[in-house]
Amino acid sequence: MSFEPKIVGFLCHWCSYTGADLAGTSRIKYAPNVRPIRVMCSGRIEPGLVIKAFENGADAVLICGCHPGDCHYSEGNYKTMRRVPFLHRLLEEYGISRERLRLEWVSASEGQRFAEIVNEMTETARRLGPCRIRESIALDPAVR
Ligand code: FES
Repeated sequence: MSFEPKIVGFLCHWCSYTGADLAGTSRIKYAPNVRPIRVMCSGRIEPGLVIKAFENGADAVLICGCHPGDCHYSEGNYKTMRRVPFLHRLLEEYGISRERLRLEWVSASEGQRFAEIVNEMTETARRLGPCRIRESIALDPAVR
């Protein structure tokens, strides 16, 4: 049986969730691997939420927010922009590829773009195989 990755998608309410909704209402076909979680702003996504998603079985995490300059809370997406490189380094500390965490800007009118991102990310996660972060964290003496 082929491996089908589980991808947690944190989507900001104002742009990206609406973009994902547009993909659906436009009947654009794309991989069903993303479990969307609507948040009011991408800036709401604290690093702990991303790690928790991986710990609870996500093979990849997708964060989507409004394009820079378009955040409905002025600068939430700039916070996200700064957090993701930190999270990439943290994941690598656990031997997890940074490709498993992706940040993208998707506006409410970009349903097609959302579908393409999901398809690309699903392919990446399939290639990488199941995420083993739980085993890595269990071996970390700082966490035990
Ligand atoms: S409201 Fe969309 S990223 Fe802030």
